[in-house]
Amino acid sequence: MAYRFTDLLPADFADRSLREDVRTGLTADPKWLPPKWFYDKTGSALFEDITRLPEYYPTRSERAILQTHAAGIVRSSKARHLVELGSGSSEKTRLLLDHLADGENVYTALDVSGSALRQAAESLAGNYPGLRIEAVRADFEQHLAQVLRDPLTGRGAGGRLVAFLGGTIGNLRPAERQVFLGSVRAGLEAGDAFLLGADLVKSPKVLVPAYDDAAGVTAAFNLNLLQVLNQRLGADFDPETFRHRAVWNEDEAWIEMRLRATRPLAVRFENLDLSLVFAQGEELRTEISAKFTRARLEQEFTASGFRPDGWWTDPGDRFSLSLWRPA
Ligand SMILES: C[S@@+](CC[C@H](N)C(=O)[O-])C[C@H]1O[C@@H](n2cnc3c(N)ncnc32)[C@H](O)[C@@H]1O
Repeated sequence: MAYRFTDLLPADFADRSLREDVRTGLTADPKWLPPKWFYDKTGSALFEDITRLPEYYPTRSERAILQTHAAGIVRSSKARHLVELGSGSSEKTRLLLDHLADGENVYTALDVSGSALRQAAESLAGNYPGLRIEAVRADFEQHLAQVLRDPLTGRGAGGRLVAFLGGTIGNLRPAERQVFLGSVRAGLEAGDAFLLGADLVKSPKVLVPAYDDAAGVTAAFNLNLLQVLNQRLGADFDPETFRHRAVWNEDEAWIEMRLRATRPLAVRFENLDLSLVFAQGEELRTEISAKFTRARLEQEFTASGFRPDGWWTDPGDRFSLSLWRPA
């Protein structure tokens, strides 16, 4: 069965929203940008390469949990409809799709990256001929409650499983996470369940190499953001003048990915009428990746109107899957 592609983002989304983010983040001190702009075609492909790196344990650990527990989790949810937020390549998702309840099965993949969505949907359509696939381009930080109430995401279908895998929740800052959880909760109906993949706090000796690998793939992923800015906004960044850095912030319990200017430089954004300077050693924060404890997740989810309904980790206790229901 083919898939259907629905674009819920306005035609000028990338331009307008990226412009706003650049104006806000790059004129702030310290400079920062949200991580959603990493994922152009090159960035999405580089992220897939990262998931296969020896240092990058999250994907392998999450897959190990799914391999052991997905059947039980999905069967207990009795869901026929799986909705995935930030679905990317939808690779691990197959382990969930394999266990949807009998009847018409639907998979709604939601991502901000059109190229990742199309590639994933095409591949799934070949392997799951009976599955209805809805590929939805949307921003899960905007209008999520509305999107979850749309028939595209199976509202009224009775018992959906909404998955948010890969530790992507860690990319949201605490206040953004609170808004996000509120939107998910507002979009869920009784009988729905929310499945979360979250990375756990551990030694920086394990964490830092996961975001600064020996082969330099994460560095290429981080630096590609500058190419996105060059292409989309006519900026004139020279990626050669920046260095990738991964830093564990103990107080915030998150990894920060940064780009450090190796010399003083000026950047002009042709399409934005904006010029910036970087001092030598000045850093642009491009991503946070928060790490969690079970207690912290329970506290935040409970505060947002969920109740816990399951907790699983991999044999090394590196990564967690947890199931939440409307309280
Ligand atoms: C860390 S990757 C995880 C991909 C996949 N879920 C996995 O576990 O391998 C994050 C994914 O979320 C998407 N994404 C990031 N920010 C988003 C946003 N605000 N709205 C929708 N998708 C977003 C990216 O395009 C990317 O595919």
